[in-house]
Amino acid sequence: QDDLFKNIVSHAKEYGYIFPSSEIYDGLSAVYDYAQNGVELKKNIREYWWKAMVQMHENIVGIDAAILMHPTTWKASGHVDAFNDPLIDNKDSKKRYRADVLIEDYAEKINQKAQKEIEKARARFGEAFNEQEFVTTNARVVEYLAKKKEILERMARSLETENLADVKALIEELEIADPETGSKNWTDVKQFNLMFGTKLGASAESAMDLYLRPETAQGIFVNFLNVQKSGRMKVPFGIAQTGKAFRNEIVARQFIFRMREFEQMEMQFFVKPGEEMQWYKYWKTTRLNWHLSLGLGKENYRFHDHEKLAHYANAAADIEFNFPFGFKELEGIHSRTDFDLKAHEKHSGRKLQYFDPETNQNYVPYVVETSVGLDRMFLAVFSNSLKEETLEDGSVRTVLRLPAVLAPTKAAVLPLIKRDGLPELAQEIIEDLKWDFNVAYDEKDAVGRRYRRQDALGTPFCITVDHQSLEDKTVTIRHRDSMKQDRVKVSELKDIINQEVSM
Ligand code: GAP
Repeated sequence: QDDLFKNIVSHAKEYGYIFPSSEIYDGLSAVYDYAQNGVELKKNIREYWWKAMVQMHENIVGIDAAILMHPTTWKASGHVDAFNDPLIDNKDSKKRYRADVLIEDYAEKINQKAQKEIEKARARFGEAFNEQEFVTTNARVVEYLAKKKEILERMARSLETENLADVKALIEELEIADPETGSKNWTDVKQFNLMFGTKLGASAESAMDLYLRPETAQGIFVNFLNVQKSGRMKVPFGIAQTGKAFRNEIVARQFIFRMREFEQMEMQFFVKPGEEMQWYKYWKTTRLNWHLSLGLGKENYRFHDHEKLAHYANAAADIEFNFPFGFKELEGIHSRTDFDLKAHEKHSGRKLQYFDPETNQNYVPYVVETSVGLDRMFLAVFSNSLKEETLEDGSVRTVLRLPAVLAPTKAAVLPLIKRDGLPELAQEIIEDLKWDFNVAYDEKDAVGRRYRRQDALGTPFCITVDHQSLEDKTVTIRHRDSMKQDRVKVSELKDIINQEVSM
């Protein structure tokens, strides 16, 4: 599993998808740059989302609000007071940890330990091994593990109720050690706000404290009435947006899964109060179907319905994806009630109400939100697509089976050899195709090696120009996944490619 993940990270770098940020200065933790192919894949995912959400829904429009917003926004939204992670420092190592992650990792270790004991016994007793018997004869080990588990459960409850003193006491009772140095010398647990602060204005006196937005949603809420009026929108209607968000994440691991600067694709759907549950169900189904349409495998998705709800929600669910490190949140669907609009009314003193022409009444709409991380989508698509395949002749090929509609380059045009007019004909084909798709030209190395390189880059089609092409204007087109080759007319290429890559 670890190897698989390392392989994904190194493939992303080697083939120009993702680089560590500021790498010549040894990088910046949890910040990444999208490279020449990554930027295309990311753009295609964004467009695939935008088309499904905005273009295909008459009653959804898009906006692009600024990253910087009036600071009162974040007071109203609850982020200033409640957008926190519980942190604990180790006094000896001076390392900082998220208390919940420290505990989660410890629980995982305890589980592994229990599993190991059982495996050891199984190996010793072979067929005679009986788990029930093992548990009875090793009562002390089992009791020890059960006690730890019980404390861990208490700890999870304390975290949920933000009983931070209890969390610290339990960390000490369990004797959880700093994972790196083994020290058990902890500070108190403190809440840490995840927003990045910055300043607007030049002089010290006039400067205003601002935040980089931690979610794009608030840019939509504050513009709700502007869009409704200028677009003559009738409830129910939606506002969609894609853009950067920033969170000062403490635990930064798992590559682009959890970043400090990332991009969200969010849609707020404004509905009549009382109709929110019906729309919540509608968006859960609609969003899952969008994911399934990419063909990454139905078995790789599941819903996680939240029991514990955020302060603004009356229902919430995640769409989880089977990442290389297990099922994790990919998208959130939240029924946010009128929490945000009401809070902005209160803090701004402005009415944010919809006039319903049918009933002649004013009301504050309820909101159902869909929110997916673009970088997480990228990781889902990329990690699911990377395969090592053993071919019939026993050789191994690396292939990036990206959904064709998302692939950065749709076709590579390859002259079989570098003379006899083949490069010129290849260039002619590119001139014609490039109006419709990203196409690449490659004449270096034997054609077999060029195929393998395009496989690893995720290019769905290779078009090979040979001597016969000069005579009859036909070429071979090779399909990345099946590796099948067909001889087709140059004039048919555009239609053939279009059939697979159009959104
Ligand atoms: N407006 C609601 C909202 O922001 P969220 O669950 O905090 O909800 C929504 O975030 C989505 O944004 C997540 O499902 C995830 O895909 C993505 N996301 C959140 N934090 C992220 C991070 N640090 N790095 C990458 N993606 C992140």
